[in-house]
Amino acid sequence: MGIQITPSILNADLSRLADEVGRIPSADWVHVDVMDNHFVPNLTIGVPVVESLVKSTELPIDVHLMIEDPDRWAPAYAEAGARSVTFHAEAASAPVRLARELRDKDVRASMALRPATPVEPFADMLGELDMLLLMTVEPGFGGQKFLDVCLPKIRRARELISAAGLEVWLQVDGGISLETVERCAEAGADVFVAGSAVYSAEDPDAMVKQLRQAAESV
Ligand code: DX5
Ligand code: ZN
Repeated sequence: MGIQITPSILNADLSRLADEVGRIPSADWVHVDVMDNHFVPNLTIGVPVVESLVKSTELPIDVHLMIEDPDRWAPAYAEAGARSVTFHAEAASAPVRLARELRDKDVRASMALRPATPVEPFADMLGELDMLLLMTVEPGFGGQKFLDVCLPKIRRARELISAAGLEVWLQVDGGISLETVERCAEAGADVFVAGSAVYSAEDPDAMVKQLRQAAESV
């Protein structure tokens, strides 16, 4: 599939979501951060907003659920029209069952790991996933500093995926910018979430293109 750029709308003007998404036509996906004030200390948006967003853009929606009990809530995001749904491993009680349920609903099933959660315990279930999301900041807020400590895990995750002969996408999220995107690409990431880097740029679409170019240059 190659390099993909998925801007996060967390740092966009949330009162003008459709317009803000219209500013990134070169993006591959729109990354929507759903937070419940329990799994992370922040509260954002939910199913009704995703439903509206799906109608207002041609870009596919990549939902990142930072919520407790995704086993219960994640399927509704598939039904709302998201094309990829990511749940956190730390919050799911039955990740294999949940990934299968999502795939049965014809969405891409994805699982996220916080910075301190090792990837190795999940090696045997990578085949159940379409994407693995490695957080490169503690989830909860945009605009945080990239955690270099995550780079070796990106490399190990890529090795596990390749060794198993899988085509699981490897997404990184948190502090991705022109400063950090190349290091992540070099370590093996191929899907890049960027929130503040894109939406604080004067020309968000130009930043999407620059991030893509930088990742592809590795
Ligand atoms: C953080 C979210 C991210 C966030 C990234 O918990 O999952 O998607 O929007 O924002 P930046 O790119 O500013 O770190
Ligand atoms: Zn995210």
